[in-house]
Amino acid sequence: MSDQYILGIETSCDETAAAIVKNGKEILSNIVASQIESHKRFGGVVPEIASRHHVEQITLVIEEALEQAEVKFSDLTGIAVTSGPGLVGALLIGVETAKTLAFAHSLPLIPVHHIAGHIYANRLVSEMEFPLIALVVSGGHTELIYMKEHGHFQVIGETRDDAAGEAYDKVARLLDLPYPGGPHIDRLAKEGRATIDFPRAWLEEGSFDFSFSGLKSAVINMLHNANQRGEQLKAEDVAASFQESVTEVLVKKTMIAAKKYEAKQILLAGGVAANRGLRERLSEAVQSVGHLQLVIPPFHLCTDNAAMIAAAGTVFFEKGIRADLSLNANPGLSL
Ligand code: KG4
Ligand code: ZN
Repeated sequence: MSDQYILGIETSCDETAAAIVKNGKEILSNIVASQIESHKRFGGVVPEIASRHHVEQITLVIEEALEQAEVKFSDLTGIAVTSGPGLVGALLIGVETAKTLAFAHSLPLIPVHHIAGHIYANRLVSEMEFPLIALVVSGGHTELIYMKEHGHFQVIGETRDDAAGEAYDKVARLLDLPYPGGPHIDRLAKEGRATIDFPRAWLEEGSFDFSFSGLKSAVINMLHNANQRGEQLKAEDVAASFQESVTEVLVKKTMIAAKKYEAKQILLAGGVAANRGLRERLSEAVQSVGHLQLVIPPFHLCTDNAAMIAAAGTVFFEKGIRADLSLNANPGLSL
């Protein structure tokens, strides 16, 4: 079989990204133009600003991805693009660009679900072994997914309110930390002690769902009450206690799911997979179970990028999944 070169395009939120991946596993280029600086002063992603940046950046980013990989359009096997979920105006820029390029160069167009992309970031690091459980934790998602083979996704648990990353960003805001707050809380947590007993939302027996809004309210109340008493809580201790509460629930539920589904691997994915506390705690838990393997992508593949979209796109391409020019951005796309 000849080599496959897939161009991946990702514009679902605030990163304009393009990448070339060879045979679904080897990154030849991975260009990410981050807009974080433009959104920072608003404390979150402003959809209008995101779309405008994507329009400005997308062609440059794709050109750079091809140039760095030393690949021409005529070498490509197909174009994979995130078609959802995400911000509709942001997704549209990627989808329309991918459609135009696929049409102009007579290339197959492959639609990719953003979460499938996050999961497949792991294939750029290690071979996937099935059955597996993927824990996807990002700014918009917290999901436990059971995969029995390539391209098969069964959501067995999800958040009922805030996503894990969203909770991190909101608590960071309460502590006057800059956006995105996850990495700042992570850093502070390392310096603090988990002295505050914040709640853990286990939900009903056997449920793999998550809930983080109660925890967020508990942090708000704790800070408010301390303020009223004229007490100064140490931000490091609040961060460490919050992180402890989030990671304990994420890790325990993931381990129970791995046991129930007789998983050979646990994959960690999404922006919050960059969290040191979560990585450490999950590594410890997995080490105590003999046959189980943990795969965690390096930091730059945990946050939004297009190499993960190209990696997932390669698997979908092999399964014969194609989109025609009627492909539309779908902000609420389900896996
Ligand atoms: O996957 P991602 O780049 O974008 C989405 O698809 O949402 O995830 C971004 C999220 C943000 O909420 C950010 O605060 C969080 O990932 N994040 C972290 C860390 N690094 C990024 N959260 C906790 N600890 C980190 N080290
Ligand atoms: Zn993401």
